Amino acid sequence: EFEVELAQSGTVLTVPPERTLLDVVRQARPDVPFSCEAGYCGTCETRVLAGEPDHRDDYLEEEERAACNTMMICVSRSRSPRIVLDL
Ligand code: FES
Repeated sequence: EFEVELAQSGTVLTVPPERTLLDVVRQARPDVPFSCEAGYCGTCETRVLAGEPDHRDDYLEEEERAACNTMMICVSRSRSPRIVLDL
């Protein structure tokens, strides 16, 4: 499990292994956009302010993955104990 911090409100939530980051984020931000929930449409792309994403999508280019400043929150997770999103 890991923590997600929503930078705009300072809210910190725990993401357990059996739940997606999108699912947990929606508790606090029901307005976040998403569509496929499978990592290919790009709708849920979210800016990463700190932490290292564990990219599991099929949407981002290799360079974007390496830059760690954006992620698909429907399928991707975090390698660091906490990930900070621009939400
Ligand atoms: Fe489609 Fe996340 S909702 S990539």
